[in-house]
Amino acid sequence: MITSFIAKTCTTLLALVTGCSAGVVYRDVYGESTWHKYVRSPSTSIVKPKSILTANITGNVSNPNGFLEGNDAPTILSRKPDDLHIPSIVVDFGQNVVGIVSIDFAQSTNSSQGLPGLKLAFSETQQFLTNTSDFTRSDNLPDGQKITKGTDQVAVANDPSTWKNKAGCQYGNKVCSDGLHGFRYMKIWLDALDSDAPYTQPYGSVSISNIELDWSAYLGTPDTFTGWFECSDEDLTQWWFDGVYTTDMSSGTFLANETDPRDSATPTLEGTRVIFDGAKRDRDPYVGDLAIASLTSYLSHDAPEMTRNILVNLANHQRADGWIPPASINNYTLPLYDYPMWWVVATYDFVMYTGDTDFVAQYYDVMKKTLDSYYGQNLTSTHGLLNKTNGYGDYAFLPRSGVITYYNALYVHALKSAAQLANILGHDADSNAWTTRASEIGTKMLARNWDYAVGAFFDGGPCPDKSGDTICNVHAQDGNGLAVLSGVVNTSLATGLLDFYGNTAARPYGNAFYDNDSIQAGFSQRVYAFISYFELGARFATHGASNSAFDEIKRLYGWMSTHDPEITFWEGIGPEGAPYEDGFTSMAHGWSTGIVPLMSNYVLGIKPTAPGSKTWQICPVIDGGDLTWARGAVGTPSGPIKVRWEKGTDGSFVLQIDTPKDTKGAICVPTGGSKGRVVMDGMEVDGNADVDIIGPIATAGEGFMVVKASGGVHMVTVNVGK
Ligand SMILES: *[C@@H]1O[C@H](CO)[C@@H](O)[C@H](O)[C@H]1NC(C)=O
Ligand SMILES: *[C@@H]1O[C@H](CO)[C@@H](O)[C@H](O)[C@H]1NC(C)=O
Ligand SMILES: *[C@@H]1O[C@H](CO)[C@@H](O)[C@H](O)[C@H]1NC(C)=O
Ligand SMILES: *[C@@H]1O[C@H](CO)[C@@H](O)[C@H](O)[C@H]1NC(C)=O
Ligand SMILES: *[C@@H]1O[C@H](CO)[C@@H](O)[C@H](O)[C@H]1NC(C)=O
Ligand SMILES: *[C@@H]1O[C@H](CO)[C@@H](O)[C@H](O)[C@H]1NC(C)=O
Ligand SMILES: *[C@@H]1O[C@H](CO)[C@@H](O)[C@H](O)[C@H]1NC(C)=O
Ligand SMILES: *[C@@H]1O[C@H](CO)[C@@H](O)[C@H](O)[C@H]1NC(C)=O
Ligand SMILES: *[C@@H]1O[C@H](CO)[C@@H](O)[C@H](O)[C@H]1NC(C)=O
Ligand SMILES: *[C@@H]1O[C@H](CO)[C@@H](O)[C@H](O)[C@H]1NC(C)=O
Repeated sequence: MITSFIAKTCTTLLALVTGCSAGVVYRDVYGESTWHKYVRSPSTSIVKPKSILTANITGNVSNPNGFLEGNDAPTILSRKPDDLHIPSIVVDFGQNVVGIVSIDFAQSTNSSQGLPGLKLAFSETQQFLTNTSDFTRSDNLPDGQKITKGTDQVAVANDPSTWKNKAGCQYGNKVCSDGLHGFRYMKIWLDALDSDAPYTQPYGSVSISNIELDWSAYLGTPDTFTGWFECSDEDLTQWWFDGVYTTDMSSGTFLANETDPRDSATPTLEGTRVIFDGAKRDRDPYVGDLAIASLTSYLSHDAPEMTRNILVNLANHQRADGWIPPASINNYTLPLYDYPMWWVVATYDFVMYTGDTDFVAQYYDVMKKTLDSYYGQNLTSTHGLLNKTNGYGDYAFLPRSGVITYYNALYVHALKSAAQLANILGHDADSNAWTTRASEIGTKMLARNWDYAVGAFFDGGPCPDKSGDTICNVHAQDGNGLAVLSGVVNTSLATGLLDFYGNTAARPYGNAFYDNDSIQAGFSQRVYAFISYFELGARFATHGASNSAFDEIKRLYGWMSTHDPEITFWEGIGPEGAPYEDGFTSMAHGWSTGIVPLMSNYVLGIKPTAPGSKTWQICPVIDGGDLTWARGAVGTPSGPIKVRWEKGTDGSFVLQIDTPKDTKGAICVPTGGSKGRVVMDGMEVDGNADVDIIGPIATAGEGFMVVKASGGVHMVTVNVGK
């Protein structure tokens, strides 16, 4: 198997490396185009519906499919005053979409006193598709500003016309429409609100000749991809592209009339391109979400300005005490405790992927004030740890207080990220101070919050009915995952911690974010793909734990991809795998796309180690999940880094890379602990290169060899016992 692979690639790669003569040109070593079939984006910004739900037609509807592409005669909904049933159809776009719907009408007729009216209800799922939309902005506006009552209204003119779903009203404050929707299903029925009289009537006849959506998000067609991923497990490959589509759907231009109605519109964001949290709602950019959504964005497309616009906007609203708002919502006052630390982490990622060091130079003082004033001055005298004492919430709006493991682990993560940025900018004193503080906090976390009985961190705060310096007997996914990723625990503690957590929190739809309900009922059944990402990363970063990562991914992403609306990844999952906040739940949420960085950063193993990926590491995780090969690319400012690896059935392994000429890096060659021969570009290599590998990696210890590599094409093979 491996031999045939090498033979095939010899024609291109070895031709370059060893000069072996090229016969057939093997174009797709890194899968340059084989992945196109997985892309979920519409091919143009005008999106047509796929079908109607035939089981859901009610009343007098002629030619129900008529408006669909390829059909000629229009769909006609007719209703007379004595009709028992209201004519209605449910339009299915085939997948979750976002944008502005328009409807072309052919001739329509009045029945009695006025124009026939249509009502529209939108939903991401069939479960929450009722006679009102699963979410409208209007329903969430203060009284007095509401224009719709959960449906969008249309007054249908007699002559042929086109109606576009703009936010606003057709007549004064009557016949109103909500505007933009994120949805898969749209129910249309011939009806009118009493309050819309005399402009519309619930009777008459309406002919629909066409329905389409003007896509408002990032249109991620194949030509826009700067990175991609494929592997021997087609589900994982597809989920990578589903994750990209989910973040694409959550991206777009910030517009006051399309964003979260809770006072999040702001002149400084208006008209700028951003990554929202969700497509349906809140449509406000939150910095915590960027910890994942921005990675997905960098790893798939070249559009970093979406992230930069948000980081700049929030930094410009830093409070005098150093706190950075999580989002523009509530005029930049939503009280979240953890998000200023995510701003630091998102800034680190931004600089590493884009090379824009000017950005961090400009906002360095913002970062320092957050780390040193807001958090640094709030370390307890008794434990030297963050002790949250205010009513602030976090990514899950948990008002938990006390010495919480998650906040402290995230502080370590942020300090270490900032220390690298300080180092890059030559602020050595800060870099050293932050590195030291991170390490001290880690030691102190173990001293206070480690639960020896189970071998994992406690959540750390008191139980809801207790207070003071007490610890509730409950464990959370967030602090445990981040403690591993930020290097607070060594491999042996990490292994035990991940075993414990996987055993206690596994659900058919992922790993729950708490292991029991001490903090709140239902928490042991709730799964956030967002915070699961850090636990999954911890599994890929811990030697021997990758099987459990693949197992968890298959439950989590397998569940979402096979439950309505399919394809896009949800904001949160509740008991029995249902959307955790019913119809309000966003079913396309960029923060749930961790599958993308998990595959690109761990399975391909590509990570930047200097701004703009001028240096990089390629440390693939090749064990677990029955993968036999993976290939793909990550875009950088100087061109793509391409990687392909394949395992032979005899334990042999081949890794090929192609990186920009003006870069260099380190390859972690997995040797499985054997003493197999490692051959790079035709020469046997041994010994570990003296290079820094960032972050804990699964191949640590006896299992790998680090080799330095210049930019360009390289091929590494390991032959065990041959
Ligand atoms: C569509 O019809 C099916 C089958 O009768 C029913 O279960 C479902 O609730 C209907 N959905 C809507 C949105 O009416
Ligand atoms: C249904 O509507 C059509 C017009 O589209 C009309 O010709 C027909 O008489 C209606 N059927 C009934 C039973 O009302
Ligand atoms: C919902 O709409 C259907 C027609 O699509 C109608 O038959 C039903 O009476 C409506 N229900 C309510 C509660 O308005
Ligand atoms: C339909 O009703 C509208 C609004 O009342 C009116 O302007 C129009 O003339 C009517 N059309 C016909 C054909 O009666
Ligand atoms: C919101 O306003 C902008 C102009 O500022 C307009 O282009 C856009 O279509 C509006 N969106 C909706 C849903 O009405
Ligand atoms: C938002 O807050 C700023 C500063 O705190 C204040 O000047 C401004 O008036 C507020 N805007 C609104 C719409 O309340
Ligand atoms: C941190 O300390 C400052 C000053 O001592 C205080 O104003 C602020 O509320 C504290 N913040 C938290 C989150 O405890
Ligand atoms: C955290 O602060 C609260 C409120 O001041 C206090 O009751 C509690 O003992 C502190 N916890 C620790 C571990 O210091
Ligand atoms: C891991 O850390 C724990 C706690 O600090 C320590 O007791 C243990 O010896 C360490 N294990 C290894 C293998 O270094
Ligand atoms: C949480 O788990 C601990 C340890 O297993 C147990 O003592 C406690 O009763 C549990 N609490 C709830 C609410 O399930």
